[in-house]
Amino acid sequence: MVKARSADTRAWIQTESWPSLAWGADFADPRGMVTPSEDGPTRGGDGAGGGVPGPADWAERYRLGETPWDLGGAHPELSLRLSGGSLAPPRTGARVLVPGAGRGHDAVALARRGWTVVALDVVGSLGEDLGTALARLGGRFVEGDALDFEDEPFDLIWDHTFFCAINPADREPWGRRAGELLLPGGLYAALVFPFGKPASEEGPPHGMSSDDLLRVLGARTEVIEDVEVQRRAPARRWAERFLLARRHGLDLASPA
Ligand SMILES: C[S@@+](CC[C@H](N)C(=O)[O-])C[C@H]1O[C@@H](n2cnc3c(N)ncnc32)[C@H](O)[C@@H]1O
Repeated sequence: MVKARSADTRAWIQTESWPSLAWGADFADPRGMVTPSEDGPTRGGDGAGGGVPGPADWAERYRLGETPWDLGGAHPELSLRLSGGSLAPPRTGARVLVPGAGRGHDAVALARRGWTVVALDVVGSLGEDLGTALARLGGRFVEGDALDFEDEPFDLIWDHTFFCAINPADREPWGRRAGELLLPGGLYAALVFPFGKPASEEGPPHGMSSDDLLRVLGARTEVIEDVEVQRRAPARRWAERFLLARRHGLDLASPA
């Protein structure tokens, strides 16, 4: 069970109507991503970039079916890279973590291509369907906060609209956590979105660039690929890039 960031989170979400939906244009759906209350719960505490949704906010969006980020299938770029083999598991039993997995379309696509998947999300109800689907494919769903998550290290982290969903104040802690969750030589693959969205605009989704992610992953991180996606998700307002970075066991800046 994920602990609530604030005791009155649930009461707040049940009694307040959602404020005006100002962020809708980021996704195809004009309702936007998640609209937190200005005095709603924050993780990271400073409310950078506007109010920050907590677990109950995300859960409420799924309960209401207001999930404009959900593509209804795996991201086309991930599908392309899985079918082309560039994101193939490096060995039998190779493990991938999917933080902020949502309904898990990407997680299932990865599992079908031979990855042993751990799909992680703060919304436990997502595990009802996704947990069953992944169990059939040798994976599992975990309800939890990615910033506190601990497990055996992974070969790959696949991040699709997770980094842009968290409080910008949590980016550095996530970068450290991600580094600890990767094996030496492990890969962090990210769908970088919304690329080019000014930091002054509210989120989530908070604007991000490949550099924002690389900065928090630290000096041990080597860029393998940082390119515009070949296959965009339909109707997203902002550009998307594909970033693939390798996390080394030794600091790249240190002498061998
Ligand atoms: C924009 S959605 C993306 C979902 C999925 N990756 C997709 O593309 O459909 C962000 C997801 O991150 C989850 N989430 C937000 N903060 C989280 C955290 N700290 N730890 C784990 N999951 C989180 C939300 O519940 C939500 O499912």
